Amino acid sequence: MAHYVVEKSPALRGEITVQRSKNAVLPMMACCLMTRDCIGLTGVPRLADVDCMASLLGDLGAQVTRSRDEMSLCGADVSDYCTGRHWVERMRASVLAMGPLLARLGRARIQFPGGCAIGSRPIDLHLKGFAALGAHIALADGCIEAEAQRLHGAHIYLDFPSVGATENLMMAATLAQGTTVLENAAKEPEIADLAELLGKMGARICGAGGSTVTIEGVTALHGARHAPMPDRIEAGTLLLCAAATGGDVLLRGAQESTLAAVIAKLRECGARVERDAAGLRVRGGELTGVDIETLVYPGFPTDLQAPMMALLCRAQGTSILTEHIFENRFMQVPQLRRMGASITVRGRSAIVRGVCELHGAHVSATDLRAGAALVLAGLTAEGRTVVTDVAHIERGYVDLAGSLASLGAPVRRVE
Ligand code: UD1
Repeated sequence: MAHYVVEKSPALRGEITVQRSKNAVLPMMACCLMTRDCIGLTGVPRLADVDCMASLLGDLGAQVTRSRDEMSLCGADVSDYCTGRHWVERMRASVLAMGPLLARLGRARIQFPGGCAIGSRPIDLHLKGFAALGAHIALADGCIEAEAQRLHGAHIYLDFPSVGATENLMMAATLAQGTTVLENAAKEPEIADLAELLGKMGARICGAGGSTVTIEGVTALHGARHAPMPDRIEAGTLLLCAAATGGDVLLRGAQESTLAAVIAKLRECGARVERDAAGLRVRGGELTGVDIETLVYPGFPTDLQAPMMALLCRAQGTSILTEHIFENRFMQVPQLRRMGASITVRGRSAIVRGVCELHGAHVSATDLRAGAALVLAGLTAEGRTVVTDVAHIERGYVDLAGSLASLGAPVRRVE
């Protein structure tokens, strides 16, 4: 089993280009289920979750191929409507096949979704939305089946601005008869990016990226090419690693607009973050504790809560991190404690008291972002940290060890 060996790092220095967004790419890949033409996506990152989505789509009848920089997805022969259990258990984003299948074939069947073990993660909002669009929802043999001759437009209010539900319903509504209005939609930038691709495919969508999205249904979609947005979570992780080591790093392609909350909190900690023509430049310094609440976009992203906690473990003073999005997202805490961190969890909040020193330890990447947090902690810890279960990390980061090593960090991946 692969693991990462991380030694205490000197200040990270240099430049690095941010990968394209995993969370933007996954729903875009599912769009191939809605047309007989091909979808071309450029710069798709080589990640386990992307491979998983490609295999899932392949099982449904799509042809997915990769040349050097482009992924081509062709849904001409899609006829199967059942998303296999093994994919769903591996990746929660498998549920994103449901809206497109329902729109194209009038039927979609799926197991309850899996993914990182960060809470119960229900899909009730997706299903309520499909029902509002005219689908009949049934539960049988641990599967959920949705069926509709043709979906019709509806006015849908999301009880919570779920990213996945907004994407699924937006995709389904593009081929529905009539107009759909999604109220209290998620505003994450990956949704606007998805709408851009759908627009290129012939969909009529207005307001994506805001809390009200209007979709005027069309009878057919066609092929398109798109370059997904830069990955704001990978960019944020590298910003935090650079700041934690007191480094000076230029992140090429990082978008200030999508990282406003993270930049604000880093500055509050004492780091310097500036926009550069090519991206974002971060320079670390003496860091002090800050309080953070994870919120829906444009609030502080839950996906960066764990890496931020790892940084705050060595910041001066006390920090309070409150997790509002997922109920079980402090899985990094026991691992960080093994490295000497002082963290107390009280319900949805974690109180982090900055310590002078962390020490290396054997720790396990319990989920994707918790894993990134442990690598960051290892960069600032005395001695050697061994991070196991790195398959979780590789679901979302193309080569975190290699990226950090290119900036001077003594990190290596060992088989
Ligand atoms: C997406 C991101 C994930 C990120 C999350 C929140 C992808 C592939 N993943 O996940 O990295 O952490 O947004 O920014 O884009 N909920 C319900 N019912 C539902 C749907 C969601 O109760 O039907 C709850 C979830 O349990 C969770 C919260 O809503 O507590 C947020 O979930 P959601 O926004 O749907 O996240 P994902 O789309 O799964």
